[in-house]
Amino acid sequence: MDSITDIVVAHHREHFPKSSDCAIFASPGRINIIGEHIDYNGGTVFPAAIDKHIYICVSRNNDGIIRFASSNHKETGEVAIKNLHTPYTQEHALRMWWVYPFGACVLSNIEFESGLDFSFYSTLPVGAGMSSSASITVGTLYALYSLYDKKIKNTDLALQAQRVEWDFAGVRCGIMDQMAIINGKKGHALMLNTQNLECRLIPVDTAAVRFVLVNSGVKHSLRESGYNDRRRECERALIMLQKSGFSIQHLCDCSIDDLTTIQNILPHTEYRRAYHVISEHHRVLQFADEIQKYNLSKAGELLFKSHQSLSAYYEVSIPLIDEMVEWASEIDGVYGSRLMGGGFGGCTISMVALYAVEHFTKTIAQKFKKKENRMPEIYECTLEDGTHRIE
Ligand code: GLA
Repeated sequence: MDSITDIVVAHHREHFPKSSDCAIFASPGRINIIGEHIDYNGGTVFPAAIDKHIYICVSRNNDGIIRFASSNHKETGEVAIKNLHTPYTQEHALRMWWVYPFGACVLSNIEFESGLDFSFYSTLPVGAGMSSSASITVGTLYALYSLYDKKIKNTDLALQAQRVEWDFAGVRCGIMDQMAIINGKKGHALMLNTQNLECRLIPVDTAAVRFVLVNSGVKHSLRESGYNDRRRECERALIMLQKSGFSIQHLCDCSIDDLTTIQNILPHTEYRRAYHVISEHHRVLQFADEIQKYNLSKAGELLFKSHQSLSAYYEVSIPLIDEMVEWASEIDGVYGSRLMGGGFGGCTISMVALYAVEHFTKTIAQKFKKKENRMPEIYECTLEDGTHRIE
């Protein structure tokens, strides 16, 4: 069987037959075990890089052009280096799949002395909630800095990748995905403090559990606008609390005990959003504690609670995902399950005892098929290293 490097180079040559001296990088997707919608509220989150990747192959050309090709898309993209920073080019790129690597080239501020041919070969499903956009952006930046021999701290690279999402894709995402993708470590999750961007690696007993994702296949039109709306509601809640005397900089600076007072200050919607954020932050800290003590059942319960809160208070779930979590809760060997990622569709993440994984996937697939009349995509994940060069 061909190795992944052979496959990636062959794919590159299909698009760029004259290429030589290819450099190859692997950029993983991420899961978020717990800590949803708190990375833009100053919370601590618990994500991990996984064993599904976007492979980035890059070679130089003498044409003064940067080209992008992908195993996921038929159309390719190209931009002359001299036009990289023109508003017209940026406007055009906005509507294309290659807006992310393009944005990375622009924001890296590298002075390109030759053209580059990029190809992306993906084993990471797009649109399934595993952050393919952060993976391709972080990967492209990493490849650029590596090719041009420029040193950059992981945190600065992650912040640049986040900027690409904000300025080029129009989603004001938090920093979790980019930090998890660049800092991941095999067998570990990351405890990421989104206020000071400090990361602690927490070993996860992968001999005992697997994280299994089930994709609802629903891509809600509210995905981007809904995300930005929630962000604004949280900002409003924060300002209201500050005005009424809370000396806090982020919603996550409030403790769980503050919730009673907060209920009397905030209007209904803002209270519900704040309730989710503050309680979710509390759950992340409890989860980290339990998982390090190997209390898998207690840790798992927190995942179910996280889901209830995302659904009832943050209102980012959909009925199908609520049902999927419900099904998971009835299966033997499932420690916990919840909606993962931004919401309004996407997938669930379930923490499943190793012995029960097969039974879990079969049962969920049956129930899903019965309900939706189609098979769900199911992904078993292991925890892996962050973005790195492989050749
Ligand atoms: C998306 C964003 C992240 C984070 C999650 C919700 O994945 O990219 O920054 O806010 O949603 O936790």
